Amino acid sequence: MEAKIGLPKKDLTKSIDDLTVLLANEMILYVKTRKFHWNISGNSFMELHKLFEQHYNSLAKTADEVAERISALGGNAIGSMKNFLKHGEIEENTKDSNTQKQMLDELLEDHQKTMVQIRKAIDEIGDKSNDVVTEDFLTGILKMHENISWQLRKYTN
Ligand SMILES: [Fe+2]
Repeated sequence: MEAKIGLPKKDLTKSIDDLTVLLANEMILYVKTRKFHWNISGNSFMELHKLFEQHYNSLAKTADEVAERISALGGNAIGSMKNFLKHGEIEENTKDSNTQKQMLDELLEDHQKTMVQIRKAIDEIGDKSNDVVTEDFLTGILKMHENISWQLRKYTN
């Protein structure tokens, strides 16, 4: 059902497409962070175990908000692992074991890729569309990723 919120169809489509890629990225990152929460070991075990839990809870909340924004714009929120992997720009982690450093490096890289995607979406929506609410919404999500990245980076020095 088309959302009648004062935006032309092309603006709705642009936002829905960008939000779909973001939803996929958030879900892949959510699953990966959860996996690392389960399997972390080493000298910072309990700290990182708890930190990853905070992060995957933030990612889950964000994914939910992104999916609901897609729906509010009249789109269909993807919701299968197959579609997340198809639309997402980050890879899942299928390795049997990862060191603490590998986990931190990979998460940082994925958050960075997600932030590049969000910044591009904000730029393009700002230039080509009037969907200021999605622009503002994406800025809030960007802030969450910056904050998580800052916390992860502090363990990699
Ligand atoms: Fe747990």
